[in-house]
Amino acid sequence: SFISEIKGITKLEDILTKRLGIKKIVIIPSSIDECPACSIDMAKAAGRYFFSIMREHKVIGITGGTTMHSFAENLPQMKTEMPLTIVPARGGLGEEVEIQANNIAAMVSKKLNGHYVLLHVPDNIDKDIMESITSIPQVKSTLEAIDEIDLLVFGIGNASDMAKRRKSSDKECMVIKERGAVSEAFGHYFNIDGEIVYETSTVGIKLDKYKALNDIIGIAGGKKKAEAILSIARINRNLVLITDESAANYLMEIT
Ligand code: G3H
Repeated sequence: SFISEIKGITKLEDILTKRLGIKKIVIIPSSIDECPACSIDMAKAAGRYFFSIMREHKVIGITGGTTMHSFAENLPQMKTEMPLTIVPARGGLGEEVEIQANNIAAMVSKKLNGHYVLLHVPDNIDKDIMESITSIPQVKSTLEAIDEIDLLVFGIGNASDMAKRRKSSDKECMVIKERGAVSEAFGHYFNIDGEIVYETSTVGIKLDKYKALNDIIGIAGGKKKAEAILSIARINRNLVLITDESAANYLMEIT
C-alpha cells in the first residue's frame, strides 16, 4: 500500500542518513533508472526542501548540469520579491550554455524574483590570463559574492561520465581515472574518500569554502551516481541529499 511504501522510504532515509553520516536524506519513491521522467520528482523534492530553508539565507550558490537545470525549471514562480542573490558557483565548464551555472543561476533568480550575478570566465585559459581576468572589477565582485555563499545547491556527477561529457582530453581523462576519481561536483573531482584528486581550470567556489558551508543541498539519483554520492557525502557532513530509490538501494549495498 501507499502508506507502507511511505514507511519503507522513511526507514530507508533514516538508515542511510546514519550510514552516510550526513544531515538529511530525501528519497523520492521511484527509480530514475527505470523511469527517467521521474527525475522531475527529484527536482521538485529538492525545490520543496530549498523553499523550506531559503529564507534563512542571503547568497545562494548554484551549479550547472541537467539535474540543476531541472531543479530551476521546476521551482514555483514566486510572486513577491525575495531578498536573495543567486550566484553561479563556478565558471563555464565546457558544456552547452543551457546547463551552465550562469544560465541556471539566472533561471533560479527569475523564479524567486531575486537578483543574480554572472561569472564571465572562460575555461582552459592560461594561468596569467586567468589572473588578469579575475582582476576585472565585474569578475572580482562575482568572486567576492561566491565567498559570501551561505547556501549551495549543486548536482553531483559520475567522474568518468563528466570527464567525457566535458570533452576532456584523453590525457586529462586518464589522469582523472588513474587518480581514482569517482565523483565530480562544482568543477572538482574526488576519490571515494572525498579527497580532491583533480580540479578543472575555471574559477569559482573553492574546496575550503565548500567544507565550511553549513547548508548544502546535493541533488543526484541513479545507480551510476551512488559511489559519487558516497564520495561527496564524506567531504562535508552538513550535506542534505535529495536522491532516488536506485541510488539509495545501491548505497545500502556499498555502505
Ligand atoms: O556539473 C554537473 C554535475 O556534476 C552533474 O550533472 O546533473 O547533468 O548529471 P548532471
